[in-house]
Amino acid sequence: MTAAPSPFLIVAIDGGAASGKSSSSRIISERFNLLHVDTGSFYRALTAGMLRAGASPTDLPTVQAALAALRLGTRVTGRSAEMEIDGRPVGDDIRSRAVNDHVSHFAAIPELRAALLAYQRGQADVARAHGFRGLVMEGRDIGSVIFPDADFRFFLHADPAERARRRANEGQHDSIVERDRLDSSRKTAPLACPVGAISIDTTHVTLPQVVEQMATAIATKLAAP
Ligand code: C5P
Repeated sequence: MTAAPSPFLIVAIDGGAASGKSSSSRIISERFNLLHVDTGSFYRALTAGMLRAGASPTDLPTVQAALAALRLGTRVTGRSAEMEIDGRPVGDDIRSRAVNDHVSHFAAIPELRAALLAYQRGQADVARAHGFRGLVMEGRDIGSVIFPDADFRFFLHADPAERARRRANEGQHDSIVERDRLDSSRKTAPLACPVGAISIDTTHVTLPQVVEQMATAIATKLAAP
């Protein structure tokens, strides 16, 4: 008798800026052979594109025209899905100060979020096509909007002072409190812990401890008959 194929696994990890999403989702992707998808990098890439096109977040017609002109693709590098715009990989400028300052304003525009919806869900097909067992997607609305039926939904949070310290250690200027305020208060897909998600406070715990908590929850459910 042959064993039934393992089901495709979707792990959603949401949380505010510098809450530990990227580090933990990278390790979870390795542990469980999942494609790692950082949706923050998608919003950053679109923001960099909007800034290049001279669009301001308050100028909807220019934003819509710029969105309509974008051709989005995906390149898989190692275990990570990376966005390509018009066939070119996005550059390091997605972590620039200008993008940090503007990204939450562009991300609050419903039309821009709508333009990314199918692209983000389509990452499941990218993961299948590349032979991954599933995907781990990090962002703000993954467990609430993109994959509300994900097999696992985690929500990470931490004290703002600790998060600011983490960003400073990375040598980044990033107004995380302001981004969180904008992300939590927008009308479309606000940052919030989805009902039923596992909430983890990462303020006083190490990265390996956070990962262990997630990995145990996943492994326990996978092992259940
Ligand atoms: O994760 P990161 O901090 O790089 O995300 C940058 C910004 O992208 C967030 O502050 C938020 O405005 C936006 N974002 C979003 N929804 C997601 C992921 C990111 O609105 N799923």
